[in-house]
Amino acid sequence: MQVSLKGNTVIVGAQWGDEGKGKITNLLAGNADMVCRYAGGNNAGHTVVMGKKTFRLHQIPSGIFYPETLCIMGSGMVINLESLLEEIDSLEGQGVSTENLRIAQNAHVIMDYHILADRSREDSMGKAKIGTTGRGIGPAYMDKAARSGIRIIDLFEEDLLRGKISYHLGEKAKFLEGSGLTVEAVFNKTRAQAEKIRSLAADTPVILNQALKAGKKILFEGAQGALLDLDFGTYPYVTSSSAISGGASTGLGVPPSALGNIIGISKAYTTRVGSGPFPTELLDETGEHLRETGHEYGTTTGRPRRCGWLDAVVLRHAAVVNGLTSLAVTKLDVLSGMHPLKIARAYRAGAEEISSFPYSQTAFSRCLPVYEEMPGWEGDISSARSWNELPQAARNFLNRVEELCGVPIGIISVGAEKDETLIR
Ligand code: IMP
Repeated sequence: MQVSLKGNTVIVGAQWGDEGKGKITNLLAGNADMVCRYAGGNNAGHTVVMGKKTFRLHQIPSGIFYPETLCIMGSGMVINLESLLEEIDSLEGQGVSTENLRIAQNAHVIMDYHILADRSREDSMGKAKIGTTGRGIGPAYMDKAARSGIRIIDLFEEDLLRGKISYHLGEKAKFLEGSGLTVEAVFNKTRAQAEKIRSLAADTPVILNQALKAGKKILFEGAQGALLDLDFGTYPYVTSSSAISGGASTGLGVPPSALGNIIGISKAYTTRVGSGPFPTELLDETGEHLRETGHEYGTTTGRPRRCGWLDAVVLRHAAVVNGLTSLAVTKLDVLSGMHPLKIARAYRAGAEEISSFPYSQTAFSRCLPVYEEMPGWEGDISSARSWNELPQAARNFLNRVEELCGVPIGIISVGAEKDETLIR
């Protein structure tokens, strides 16, 4: 199954990540000339089912399965070379060529000392910890913002690279005790990895802008989700990058006018990994049912995901900050057999009802969901291939989601397989 791509399109997570962006990107990627990742690093985990094989991508865009589609890892990413090389080897080992991959020369590199710093900071924070993936994402973006980071292009300037490594081992000494990291060891390991990706490093903004001028179709693949965005998420329980649609422009060096359609991906319920407020979280057997039926365990860390009902406040916020033109609702099949279904249409904080996203950390942590209840449906819906084949209760549920968040639903996923999808 391939879905036609009507112009350039951004795929973004409309919740806290893990919404199924990999599947939707893969559905559209076959019709795209380019698929580009613009933020994050190997904290992401995109599961793509191709026939009988399941692939788990962390940094490589989900367009890699189509040899004619150029895949770009953009300037806004932080790249872990070891994990990238493993991913390349694993794809090649399963017969997927990675010749169509390019890496932005000005993307930043995640170093081993970033990973140690991330884990050490989390350990020292006790109950206040963010619950990061422990992949060094925050510290790598910290160095980028501090203007001391190592970029892909820097890997090929030996003196510059050695100087930066030496500076960082000194500056981060308190995180590195007992690690045995030395300047020469880090330098040699990094240089060896760098040579393996040398041919992939490219001036990706130029490639992209030429493609735009030639009228090529570009798919921009978001990572994480709106609620994990550094600026617009549930700060401080967020990731350190710009996960929203605008990040595609700054993270790839293309004009905002190039972005085109913006599809927000949302599960038919909500999940979250890591710490932070989650008003519709279910800590009971209903949450457990969602976790087991939806296989809600992290692709990257294997952590059990926190599960809860769909939250329309979150979706409305995602619609605003991303400029969503449509929604793709995934995992609708997981709700089969659940009665009644609930959707949070607003929050209650004390006597007040709140219908928009509260930026206050304290206010958000105190919000309770105001639910609407709807009848559920019975039976397996994974064979439905058109709107009319869905049970009436499922259609009512989706219609209500559209009304509550003001965005039309264009794609509905009823199973992990590519074909288990309905286009509306
Ligand atoms: P970091 O990105 O590893 O720094 O983690 C910061 C927060 O973002 C933590 O709550 C992580 O669980 C969450 N996070 C990061 N990447 C993903 C993802 O791909 N899916 C879901 N949550 C993520």
